[in-house]
Amino acid sequence: MAKFSHQIFERNAILLTVCTLLVVAIGGIVEIIPLFAIETTIERVQGMRPYSPLELMGRNIYVREGCYLCHSQQIRALRDEVERYGHYSLAAESMYDHPFQWGSKRNGPDLARVGGKYSNDWHYAHLQQPSALVPETIMPAYAFLAAYPLKYDDIAEHLKANRIVGVPYTDEMIQNARVDLETQAHPDSDQGALTKRYAKTTVVGETGAKPVTELDALVAYLQVLGTMVNFADATQEDLQQ
Ligand code: HEC
Repeated sequence: MAKFSHQIFERNAILLTVCTLLVVAIGGIVEIIPLFAIETTIERVQGMRPYSPLELMGRNIYVREGCYLCHSQQIRALRDEVERYGHYSLAAESMYDHPFQWGSKRNGPDLARVGGKYSNDWHYAHLQQPSALVPETIMPAYAFLAAYPLKYDDIAEHLKANRIVGVPYTDEMIQNARVDLETQAHPDSDQGALTKRYAKTTVVGETGAKPVTELDALVAYLQVLGTMVNFADATQEDLQQ
């Protein structure tokens, strides 16, 4: 009997097609309909904040230079990755990234949690001459970034553009974008107002009224990667607000 009913489908291509579509449609509905009922597919976590103006400019340089062609920014939930890089990446951690930098190539290590792993000095030296620190590296040198002054006349516009696509920059952040950028790139300036607006910023650059370079911005960006959510003393429930 079972054999007979199977033959009906195998001998009638149209019936087989219609029934296949029906089965796939049911599967699709079961998967898709629940997504309309939930508010967001991104888990809410504590600690996420928009990038500071300097970090945002550094991020633009990261994209411009194509660092994502060799570096991913997504730690997968696999044991070897978690042991090497730290807690697997959460969707919320890239919710302010436009566009995201997950990447699909790993000629170099994943950078999702590189923030705080090395000192600023290490990054300055490594980006300008990677082989000086890691002799066998294939990473190209980006010494020119230290010679290029950062162009940030339009920094407020960058924040505004991000706000349009959903990053919660406040009016205050936009008004102070230029000052905040310069503050973070000069260690001798008062960091109070900046850290109030953007928690856990890493101050880069040198003391004195030096022009901010593209390298300063890139280092500020690398130092914030993966540091916003505090995984060290948070349980899975704490991460949810
Ligand atoms: C051709 C591939 C390639 C490109 C392009 C590249 N890197 Fe790398 N990167 C590597 C490799 C390989 C390593 C590992 C060896 C080393 O530390 O140099 C690395 C290491 C690093 C590290 C240290 C990571 C760690 O956990 O030790 C950082 C930070 C980094 N790269 C940043 C960048 C940035 C920023 C850019 C773009 C400006 C960039 N890389 C472009 C290949 C690349």
